[in-house]
Amino acid sequence: MPNLVAVIMAAGKGTRMKSKLPKVMHSLAGQPLIEHVLNTANQVGIERPLVIVGHGREVVEASISGRAEIVVQTEQLGTGHAIMQALPFLEGVQTVLVLSGDQPLLNPETLRALIELHTTRGSKATVLTAYMEQPFGYGRVVKRGDDLVKIVEEKDATPDERQIKEINTGTYCFEGSALKDALTKITPQNAQGEYYLTEVFDIFSRQGEKMSTHCTRDSHEALGINSRAQLAQAEAIFRERILEYWMTEGVTMVDPATTFISAGVELSRDVTILPFTRLLGKTRIAEDVIIGPQTSLDNCTVGCGSEVTYTVAKDVLIGDRCHIGPFAYLRPGTKLESEVKVGDFVEIKNSWIETGSKVPHLSYIGDTHIGKSANIGAGTITCNYDGVKKYPTKIGDHAFIGSNTNLVAPLEVGDNAVTGAGSTITKDVPAEALAVERSKQVTKVNWQRKTIK
Ligand code: UD1
Ligand code: CA
Repeated sequence: MPNLVAVIMAAGKGTRMKSKLPKVMHSLAGQPLIEHVLNTANQVGIERPLVIVGHGREVVEASISGRAEIVVQTEQLGTGHAIMQALPFLEGVQTVLVLSGDQPLLNPETLRALIELHTTRGSKATVLTAYMEQPFGYGRVVKRGDDLVKIVEEKDATPDERQIKEINTGTYCFEGSALKDALTKITPQNAQGEYYLTEVFDIFSRQGEKMSTHCTRDSHEALGINSRAQLAQAEAIFRERILEYWMTEGVTMVDPATTFISAGVELSRDVTILPFTRLLGKTRIAEDVIIGPQTSLDNCTVGCGSEVTYTVAKDVLIGDRCHIGPFAYLRPGTKLESEVKVGDFVEIKNSWIETGSKVPHLSYIGDTHIGKSANIGAGTITCNYDGVKKYPTKIGDHAFIGSNTNLVAPLEVGDNAVTGAGSTITKDVPAEALAVERSKQVTKVNWQRKTIK
């Protein structure tokens, strides 16, 4: 039997969020709340915690599948009731670590310290507490001297108890068998008519069992997300943590106040991030890249020395030493090899552009493969859609597409081929050929314009 098992409570509806989405699926720094708690558990060596699911369980299960053992709480009758559902999995377990799925800012170091205190003292229960200037809504930690007497919920507290600033974070260690015994004794006789896990402390206290408290120094860690306002508060704290981390790792942020970096992003040394920039999803940025201002990259990879400015991109691979923007829109499935230039007002979708090619101005390139060192003139449009189906375009190495060319797909333009400016190209152009499709210019010399008399 394992010595330590973690249980994460995540079955509650989150009524105060007023949302279709289960509370633990709300996003913090681009990842669901539950994901943050799982990551923290992983960082203290817990690989597969038990997760109690209930409200919106399909969504929660899909998001954490493979990373946790699922325990279903069909009716959400309170945190004590939630842990009762896990008891069959806790037979013979020495230490049960209980975490809340709505407490995403908990640090692994704090969790380690809690577990260590609990085991070295040999307590029946240890609660992680914090001091909060505004403890409203949290369970208060009632002590006699240094001894924990009970945890009382806001709604059940006396006016005196409400003055207490030491709060219950919702993270605990219990001795397995003592927890099991105590859970048989809790009742829903309280203001919310719920089975409170916190009542276990009352019971231990009356039985004279040994209990401990461990207080975090950083009260931010205790923040429980019950409302959208608390979610925004957590977002601000977490964002600052992420920005500080990347700055210590050698990233320059010209304006942290307008820089947003999701938890899953990875940056390298000497990256510079200019104001009003968002890096989301699993974006990866290599050394010496300059991103921004006003750029949003979601799930993108950017190679060494590239510059991406005033750009929106999603699911895109950008190679080394590329120049993107200003005002480029790169859509999913796009892969740019090294030294590619994508200039102003260019949209590229699901296309592969090889080394050294340029699409400098005012173009739409969709479902296209462009070879090496090709030049795509201003205003070039790949006409990839006939209203029913999408068709591919292929442009060879060193091809030169004249300005304002319409390339009507499916179409192939060969290596070194040229198209004349203003042409609508509907037939394949072989390598080395010139294709021009436009009417001859008519020039009438000494032509008198009509004037209004
Ligand atoms: C709980 C604590 C409170 C503490 C606070 C810290 C109790 C009775 N109170 O209050 O002392 O200060 O957390 O944030 O425990 N859940 C279930 N099943 C249920 C009910 C809840 O899985 O039947 C889950 C929720 O999804 C959530 C967690 O347990 O992740 C906490 O529940 P919540 O209703 O948010 O408790 P609080 O009122 O915040
Ligand atoms: Ca809560």
